[in-house]
Amino acid sequence: MKPVKVGLLGLGTVGTGVVRILQGFQEDLSSQVGSPIEISRVAVKNSEKTRSIDIAREVLTTDPWEVIRDPEVDVIVEVMGGVGITKDYILEALERGKHIVTANKDLMALHGTEILAKAQEKQCDVFYEASVAGGIPIIRTLIEGFSSDRIVKIMGIVNGTTNYILTKMSQEGASYDDVLQEAQALGYAEADPTSDVEGLDAARKMAILGTLGFRTNVELTDVSVSGISGVTRQDIQFAKRLGYEIKLLGIAECHNEEFSISVQPTLIRASHPLASVSGVFNAVYVFGEAVGETMFYGAGAGEMPTATSVVADLVAVIKNLKLGVNGLKQIVPYKQKKLKSDEQ
Ligand code: NDP
Ligand code: HSE
Repeated sequence: MKPVKVGLLGLGTVGTGVVRILQGFQEDLSSQVGSPIEISRVAVKNSEKTRSIDIAREVLTTDPWEVIRDPEVDVIVEVMGGVGITKDYILEALERGKHIVTANKDLMALHGTEILAKAQEKQCDVFYEASVAGGIPIIRTLIEGFSSDRIVKIMGIVNGTTNYILTKMSQEGASYDDVLQEAQALGYAEADPTSDVEGLDAARKMAILGTLGFRTNVELTDVSVSGISGVTRQDIQFAKRLGYEIKLLGIAECHNEEFSISVQPTLIRASHPLASVSGVFNAVYVFGEAVGETMFYGAGAGEMPTATSVVADLVAVIKNLKLGVNGLKQIVPYKQKKLKSDEQ
């Protein structure tokens, strides 16, 4: 059976997990999609680096264009991050008819509309489940599971790094700087952790969730953002004494064709289910007019949970390849809605 060839951009925290899953579960994955899955090219920054996984030296390159331009590659898995040149790689890969799986929320929040339009033109898949809430399949759920409903509210703890920091500060009285370093060492934080602690990463994720949930175009500038860098141990202890936890909470609401989205440190009553979401865990609460309350919970960052979402997307792309139906599932927001504050 002819293998499906995958070009991997990035072999860091997430890329390593992707290789581990593809190697470890190879037999099961191959039988699900009906052919072997081969990682045929991998772009890294430093090809001399010692890796914790078994990967042939000859598949490595330091030039992502080599991967994009390789005619043998069917699917690009982008787990290197970045928005500038990375967008060019993705658009060129689509131009060449390659399907895309990405974990890159920065890219999808900023350039998702352009990328999805190009994908539609080229009848390619672009799947990005890992971009929001790591191992929780929330994107698939919003697109497919709630296609029958009208979502009016999405609330979420969608950044693992800040939740890890706030949890350790709350439960162990740990210092902000020490825990941030721990989160970086564990592979939870972004290359520049400013986007985690200042709430930008969560804002990008909420923009993606709002776009999909409310079926409109949410721009990053529509999200009002405030991070946790100003939250002190004293604030957390004071809140605890009053029966609250402080969480970095994303809140998106849509009523009467108007939406509002924010990300900010929020006091949550200790008895509320979101208050007990600890460490790197994320939770997304979705309220639909028909379904009512639902809640999704799981690891929001880290190697294996994130890689699970990436590989699930890859499996979906390959199944579509076999059926010849790629490019049919892109979500095109169907109705423009107004940002609530525009009126004020
Ligand atoms: P890492 O920093 O761990 O890995 C980045 C990888 O990309 C490295 O292998 C690096 O090479 C490679 N790379 C970086 N720049 C270049 C370049 N110019 N050319 C070639 N290769 C390059 O990142 P993560 O794995 O943590 O994150 C990757 C993406 O996944 C990001 O978009 C992130 O936001 C997203 N994400 C991350 C999660 C997490 O828990 N970490 C969870 C969900 C999404 P080298 O190894 O040689 O340094
Ligand atoms: N830095 C991100 C987080 C990675 O901590 O949630 C997962 O998107």
